[in-house]
Amino acid sequence: MKKLVILTGAGMSAESGVSTFRDSNGLWQNHRIEEVASPIAWQNTPKMVMEFYNQRRKQLFEVEPNIGHKALIDLEKHFDVQIITQNVDDLHERAGSKNILHLHGELKKVRSTIDEDLVYEMDQWELKFGDKCEKGSQLRPHIVWFGEAVPMIGPAIEISSSADIFIVIGTSMAVYPAASLISYVNPDIPKYYIDPNAFNVSGISNLKIIKEKAGKGVPQLVKELINPV
Ligand code: OAD
Repeated sequence: MKKLVILTGAGMSAESGVSTFRDSNGLWQNHRIEEVASPIAWQNTPKMVMEFYNQRRKQLFEVEPNIGHKALIDLEKHFDVQIITQNVDDLHERAGSKNILHLHGELKKVRSTIDEDLVYEMDQWELKFGDKCEKGSQLRPHIVWFGEAVPMIGPAIEISSSADIFIVIGTSMAVYPAASLISYVNPDIPKYYIDPNAFNVSGISNLKIIKEKAGKGVPQLVKELINPV
């Protein structure tokens, strides 16, 4: 089976009702990154950080995978599919995809502030001050904040460099190292980029840009890959 690697970003979940970051009215238009998504913010304005991720988590319990997430499942009968997602939601999992690597963490998980290996699942949305790990330290969102290392980038590079087909969906390709993954992909293999705006990809060989929303572009591409003309 050919190995099909899919890199997804916030646009993948937009039609589920989850806000993107850099579109107009996106999360970073309404919140300053340094106030809610950095270790310094956690130190200086922890309440604001906690509230920001609690609201994101609350929303995640209320939304569902969309037609784009669901369309990717069909590929698994025909390809060895690996998803690398920048998204912290669990919508690929809930749609039924099997192999998912989360580059930027997971909203429904929290972890210890003194031992990053102590990670816990949340079965409800609210994390509170006073919620502690088994070693007695405060729990924090299991999110890769700006200025922190991206522990899964090594495996993501390895997966990308072994792809036979590479698909990018709904990301502005503005955040590194995630955006650099496409440069590890074999230049000779077919690549696709589904995004109504399709930014930042000049100089990538064998790239077909599909300027559609995920809900339309993904089922269309899946059909094309399964039944090539
Ligand atoms: P961005 O908000 O930067 O980009 C979202 C992309 O989705 C844009 O290119 C839009 O054109 C596209 N888009 C919008 N609606 C879409 C739809 N219905 N179908 C397909 N595409 C659509 O989000 P990311 O690129 O995911 O990191 O951002 C990367 C990282 O920056 C995030 O993981 C997050 C953020 O800061 C952390 O929080 C660590």
